[in-house]
Amino acid sequence: MATASIDTRLNEKAADFVTHKHRMLIGGKFVNAASGKTFSVYDPATGEVIANVPEAEAVDVNAAVHAARKAFDEGAWPRMTASQRGRLLWKLADLLEANLEEFAQLESIDNGKPVAVARAADVPLAVDLFRYMAGWTTKITGSTIPISMPTEYLSYTLREPVGVVGQIIPWNFPLLMAAWKLGPALATGCTVVLKLAEQTPLTGLRLAELINEAGFPEGVVNVLTGFGEGAGAPLAAHDLVDKVAFTGSTEVGKLILKAAAGNLKKVTLELGGKSPSIVFPDADLKRAISGTASAIFFNQGQCCCAGSRLFIHEKVFDEVLGGVSAIAGKIRVGSGLDPQTQMGPLVSDEQFRRVTGYIESGLKEGAKAAAGGKRAGDRGYFVQPTVLVGTTPEMQVVREEIFGPVVCAQRFSDEDLDKIARQANDTIYGLAASVWTSNLSVAHKMAWRIKSGTVWINCHNVFDAALPFGGFKQSGWGREMGAEVLNNYTEVKAVTTAL
Ligand code: NAI
Ligand code: MG
Repeated sequence: MATASIDTRLNEKAADFVTHKHRMLIGGKFVNAASGKTFSVYDPATGEVIANVPEAEAVDVNAAVHAARKAFDEGAWPRMTASQRGRLLWKLADLLEANLEEFAQLESIDNGKPVAVARAADVPLAVDLFRYMAGWTTKITGSTIPISMPTEYLSYTLREPVGVVGQIIPWNFPLLMAAWKLGPALATGCTVVLKLAEQTPLTGLRLAELINEAGFPEGVVNVLTGFGEGAGAPLAAHDLVDKVAFTGSTEVGKLILKAAAGNLKKVTLELGGKSPSIVFPDADLKRAISGTASAIFFNQGQCCCAGSRLFIHEKVFDEVLGGVSAIAGKIRVGSGLDPQTQMGPLVSDEQFRRVTGYIESGLKEGAKAAAGGKRAGDRGYFVQPTVLVGTTPEMQVVREEIFGPVVCAQRFSDEDLDKIARQANDTIYGLAASVWTSNLSVAHKMAWRIKSGTVWINCHNVFDAALPFGGFKQSGWGREMGAEVLNNYTEVKAVTTAL
């Protein structure tokens, strides 16, 4: 076990939390891994160890699943009214909001993102999500259905919680991903075993404390720290789990699907993307330039919906490319805890190597860097905001998700919207897209032609708890947030009475 060092810019509460002994939440109690094993958590700005957390394995997963099973089948939770569940979720939102600054700092040191971003986006969006879902608890309804049998029947549907849910989340928005997963599960009356990403366990563990403080009955939420194969895989495969919800790579999404086959548990997947930003010549170019730059550089490009393929009409290609490259060149890259920082480090050494590897492969295949193209600094996992030009549709950098601050700028000359859409849709993914134009008709015609779960017009990366989010094609199954997500956490029962 490595010794932890602590950044002096953290406030007292955040520093306290980072340095205290971390345990997992199973059956309402904070516990070590059964094996006693732990693993290290790193500050991505320095590469130094900041904490050690328990390493859950199959035995711990099993204990957590049994706790969730018991809470679902026998505990206080299933007897609670919808309104009581709603109040608990609202309480959790209040507690999170009261500790906003601590969470923002923890997120920054753990993930690397600028603390200002965590303060303005990650934490408040998580608070909003819990409040939005608190409102849903009392509004999950079935319907009465007229049936066409010759005699008289009364038929109605019920929406019941799907049961014990295993949730596996990534490291790019650690707290927000936990909220997206927990909110709908708890609103519908499910119980949860949540496995945090091994790179970023801190805010999830702190949230576990607030879950206990809010007064959720024991076993309703269980929170594990551990690796994908050691803890994620046994959770996805567990026979007592009724549904698994996963966010992460498409590659692991496919493994989750296989693991779920044993008991045919329900599966929802929120996977990768290679989202196009499409700039038409009639766009407000100033807005399109800053918007498409932030579409890729926000969160160091570690967004499943990052605008990583930038299509620019040839009439405005030089101007837009120049504008985006100039922004890339000016972004202040540094430690997330530095208030001046606009872009932090990538989350991990592995991710750093993956992203710089992609940049090298693009350059080797003949692309040129109009901005960036290298590592930034000489320690930590910093990469320069990078704009690649001269790419061809077959290059790996164009086809594969890079998940870093790297955009491939391409030119289009067509006026035919179907042809433009075909280029935009030339990917195995279908998560999101943005269209930049001042022509309403072009905007919506493109929105209809693009095959993705989200289309933004003259904006990118706009999220709301009320808006469904998820993917077409290999970007996933099902939707997060909005009313849509509730369908993914409920079973429908048809009840028919002969009158
Ligand atoms: P990953 O898909 O391996 O990890 C995501 C989560 O799945 C983590 O909690 C991990 O522990 C867990 N996991 C890994 N293997 C598992 C298995 N066999 N069974 C069950 N759970 C498992 O993603 P990773 O390795 O962190 O990043 C690799 C690439 O994935 C990134 O470069 C990016 O392209 C993509 N990614 C996409 C995300 C998204 O939001 N759609 C988020 C994170 C990564
Ligand atoms: Mg992985």
